[in-house]
Amino acid sequence: MKVLGIETSCDETGVAVYDTQEGLLAHCLHSQIDLHAAYGGVVPELASRDHIRRLPILLTQTLELAGLNAADIDAVAYTSGPGLAGALLVGASVAESFALARGIPALPVHHLEGHLLSPLLSADPPQFPFVALLVSGGHTQLMRVRRVGDYALLGESVDDAAGEAFDKTAKLLGLGYPGGPQLARLATQGVAGRFRLPRPMLHSGDLDFSFSGLKTAVLNVVSGPEWDPERMADLAAEFQHAVAEVLCAKALAALKKTGLKTLVVAGGVGANQHLRQVLDEALQKKGGRVHYPEPALCTDNGAMIAFAGALRLAAGEVVGGEPAVRIRPRW
Ligand code: KG4
Ligand code: ZN
Repeated sequence: MKVLGIETSCDETGVAVYDTQEGLLAHCLHSQIDLHAAYGGVVPELASRDHIRRLPILLTQTLELAGLNAADIDAVAYTSGPGLAGALLVGASVAESFALARGIPALPVHHLEGHLLSPLLSADPPQFPFVALLVSGGHTQLMRVRRVGDYALLGESVDDAAGEAFDKTAKLLGLGYPGGPQLARLATQGVAGRFRLPRPMLHSGDLDFSFSGLKTAVLNVVSGPEWDPERMADLAAEFQHAVAEVLCAKALAALKKTGLKTLVVAGGVGANQHLRQVLDEALQKKGGRVHYPEPALCTDNGAMIAFAGALRLAAGEVVGGEPAVRIRPRW
């Protein structure tokens, strides 16, 4: 079965084809970073318009790359939510129209399920069951994953997501957009511990997170009378250490609670090298292992949506009802 995947939930247009026999056949991605950079964040209306411009081109490119015609596709999977309503509508409309025209099923997919399953696309995939740490711009969650479709939420952020904290902190340090990678780059030039930032909810005894106070703590440092901009890299390093320390401690607690040894990390913040190092070392000490998506599949992409849809359809999920453009922005 060849499944076309379409992702347009935020500022990346992603299209891919996943074959349940042969694996990922092709995936194409267009990032809108340049489009939104001048505004310091994603402008929803510009995002929707750019998805409209790019999606037909990417669709043709992806089919060409895969050596397929539209008639070879057996099903379409698309990101139904959560995300920006206007952006989601573009992908959902194209996916549902494609499916209707070809008389094939169209399956709405949860964006986070795509992220969560994306490490299974790697050459050395994790085995079920595992604990997943989802760290994106919109979510910070720990989940117990028994199999495809069987997810239990163990804990989540009560305020800002980890990626959001990176982005907001980068912004108040005057770094460019997108902030997460820029802050991470600056942090490599600094030394953690020269400033002391809090480790929010480290000892809360549950598996929840809170990151908004960390951003405020950074704001207090940079607006204080002693602040020296020359020390920005040290502050960035301390911020990154604080986030990684809390994420790691809670991930270990989740593994302990569930009795599992495998951790899967997904979402944009999973690309952070320091976080990876901290998690790898901690899990190694415990005799466990961490799995990540391949670097190209860490951020939003169509491959994870095609893959999640293919696994669901292969497991017997049936798409029913009248054709409809199904979006759930706050899913
Ligand atoms: O998963 P993703 O691409 O989109 C969402 O679904 O949110 O994650 C994007 C988030 C942004 O907040 C971005 O700043 C963050 O991931 N991010 C990073 C790094 N690369 C991306 N944060 C820290 N370090 C990085 N290297
Ligand atoms: Zn995402």
